[in-house]
Amino acid sequence: MAVSIKSQKEIQIMREAGNILATVHDELADIVRPGVTTMELNNYAEKRIREFGCIPSFLNYNGYPASLCVSVNDEVVHGIPNKKRKLLEGDIVSLDCGVIYNGYQSDSARTYAVGEISETHRRLIEVTKQSFFEGIKFAKAGNHLFDISCAIQDYVESNGFSVVRDLVGHGIGKKMHEEPQIPNFRQRGRGIRLKPGMTLAIEPMVNVGTYEVWWLDDDWTVVTQDNEYSAHYENTILITEGEPEILSLRTGRTTEDEMLGR
Ligand code: MF3
Ligand code: CO
Repeated sequence: MAVSIKSQKEIQIMREAGNILATVHDELADIVRPGVTTMELNNYAEKRIREFGCIPSFLNYNGYPASLCVSVNDEVVHGIPNKKRKLLEGDIVSLDCGVIYNGYQSDSARTYAVGEISETHRRLIEVTKQSFFEGIKFAKAGNHLFDISCAIQDYVESNGFSVVRDLVGHGIGKKMHEEPQIPNFRQRGRGIRLKPGMTLAIEPMVNVGTYEVWWLDDDWTVVTQDNEYSAHYENTILITEGEPEILSLRTGRTTEDEMLGR
């Protein structure tokens, strides 16, 4: 199947979806602290998504029971919110969220420190985020998809961490998961050639120790096999004739702003 090319009209809707999603993430960042429960984070996200006139895309997706994925410490992705699970000082927490606005999707994830964390975990969060920016240096029309994948893997491994193999990024648009799949690691071949108008969710998942993961009995939560910590960073981007545009940022914020955290 072909990878869809979005029109200017569709792209504008995806920008608006991304602006709303980024606003929800920014608000969540402010309530991440020791003592907050993972369910409180979910409920806040769902309420705000609906107030913005959006639909929480994760809720009931393949039976997923919440609007936000909250993955703590050795949980890689798809952690299910729980009203008894309180965040503790020293934890790291990945928040993955998606919205549908006027029929179009935006999907993004951030990882935060809860209070003071170890130097290794601070570096894990930073390397995971930076690996996304290393990857999107290659997200240009005419390049091949796996140029992005290789850049992410090389950056992560040169910093002593590992990239998860069992989950990948994806095309996105009217549906959350469209073609192509976007691995964060080397593959045979070069992947599709990138074209202006393609919209992609690029989402490195990075582990301190082994890249190997398994699924908990809830059939959702993905955890590292060695129980070392894991971080996640994701944005929805647009391939253009020039530099890629990150669609899941607040209006007016640039790639550089997000990369430098300003
Ligand atoms: N960002 C995740 C993804 O791209 C979110 C999916 S979680 C689910 O796959 F609950 F919606 F499945
Ligand atoms: Co995604």
